[in-house]
Amino acid sequence: MNQDELKKQVAEAALEYVESGTVIGVGTGSTANFFIDALAGIKGKIDGTVASSVASAERLKGHGIPVLDLNEAGELSVYIDGADETNSQLHLIKGGGGALTREKIVAGASRKFVCICDESKLVSVLGAFPLPIEVIPMAQSYVARELVKLGGRPELRQGFTTDNGNIILDVKDLEIMEPCKFESELNNIPGIVTVGIFANRPADVLLLGTANGVDTRTAG
Ligand code: 5RP
Repeated sequence: MNQDELKKQVAEAALEYVESGTVIGVGTGSTANFFIDALAGIKGKIDGTVASSVASAERLKGHGIPVLDLNEAGELSVYIDGADETNSQLHLIKGGGGALTREKIVAGASRKFVCICDESKLVSVLGAFPLPIEVIPMAQSYVARELVKLGGRPELRQGFTTDNGNIILDVKDLEIMEPCKFESELNNIPGIVTVGIFANRPADVLLLGTANGVDTRTAG
């Protein structure tokens, strides 16, 4: 199976976590897109969705799936999204698509977070994937200097503006040994809007696409 087939496999497996008569959170990226396409087949089962990006909202609407404002939706039953990296404790790096802020908000507003990935995303230590950080534009240089002090090598994502009007710094050369602590530490730097480490609120379930089928994991 190629990587897209593995992504499609886990996206379809995630339908099992969609509860009837609820509003669900929907993520961003190529794996989330496979989920959106699969969700179209059972769209009558749910009351609606909250999207973590403008791109996902457009794709959902294209399938005739209702997209609600989070402020009107209240608590969501489940959030389903991909990741750039995951460790065995279901701490994640996210934000490769630049949607990390809304992803973290929608994940936080959901009772359960189901992460869908192909097996290439499972790592023992987070950080080989450059860590995306959303930053207020006027703080770019200051935040970059602080990140260098912490051992990272930040690079501006060229030509990219987030759905919230901010920039992304992708931070290379990190070995994130203590994801919860590092996430909190970065959250304290003024000018950082969102850090792409999802460790203090990790995924609850990981559906990992492998050549032998879907490997379902919980933190451990
Ligand atoms: C977008 C994300 C995505 O979940 C992450 O980049 C994984 O993407 P893909 O499913 O395309 O591999 O965090 O901001």
